[in-house]
Amino acid sequence: MHELAEVLVHQQRPDPGPFVRWHLRRKFCVMEELFRKYLAPGAKLADMGCGKGDALVLASLCVSGCEEWGLDINCADLQVARQRIPSAILCQDDMHDPRTLPKEYFDVVHEFGAAFLSRGWGILARVYLSLLKDEGILLWELPQRWSLAHISYLLTVAPKRKPDDTRFNRLLRSFLPSKYRFESDESVTRALRASGCGYEILERISIGTFYFPALLHFVLDWAWRYFGDGLFELFDRATHHLWPRDIGYYLVVRKKALHAASQGTI
Ligand SMILES: C[S@@+](CC[C@H](N)C(=O)[O-])C[C@H]1O[C@@H](n2cnc3c(N)ncnc32)[C@H](O)[C@@H]1O
Repeated sequence: MHELAEVLVHQQRPDPGPFVRWHLRRKFCVMEELFRKYLAPGAKLADMGCGKGDALVLASLCVSGCEEWGLDINCADLQVARQRIPSAILCQDDMHDPRTLPKEYFDVVHEFGAAFLSRGWGILARVYLSLLKDEGILLWELPQRWSLAHISYLLTVAPKRKPDDTRFNRLLRSFLPSKYRFESDESVTRALRASGCGYEILERISIGTFYFPALLHFVLDWAWRYFGDGLFELFDRATHHLWPRDIGYYLVVRKKALHAASQGTI
């Protein structure tokens, strides 16, 4: 069922190790299911914050003949994406103001793993919906506030704001909880409502609850040698009961003409 997700996991260079492999497998399995469900052959797809092009590669394996666009601010990652998927139209641009992308053009807008680096989810909701045709689908992966991913990321160095950001600046910013953006479900609803577009929430799909700070992944990788992936599954089931907050979830949103909008809750 998820053989394509497995292909993507094995394409990761350098090998990220057992825990991150397990985490990526879950991510790509959910992504594969969503692409198979919402991406029709020949559809126009935009991947925002596409990085090295994983989602574009997966989409092209899932569905034939799509017109694929990718946008990222990082030139080096885009070069990798260009080599992996030469047919895609790749733009170096800012997801908050993507002037290189046509408006009301796409059947599907997808974003994974960029919202936590964003200036504001209200801006992103408005931009993403503006890129879609009416009845188009937004596949938006969002990290949940106070999830184990949020807590883990509080313990890491702040991300680069621009390519030449110094390590010193990043270390200074690391003490600010605002260095990453993890929002509540209510603020996601507010962001969508303030977008000025009609929309309907179709589904919300968790990609899991278990995560561990990157500094400690070596402990999980060591334990994996004895217990295998079953250990991570066990931890995920336990956190599902003890700390039921999603490290990330896909919100599937259909853009509607304003008069036809029914909205819905998360
Ligand atoms: C964690 S990576 C995720 C990459 C990819 N979507 C994936 O799932 O592997 C976040 C990506 O968002 C990009 N990004 C961050 N801020 C951005 C911005 N303002 N505009 C466009 N891309 C941005 C980064 O360069 C990076 O490639």
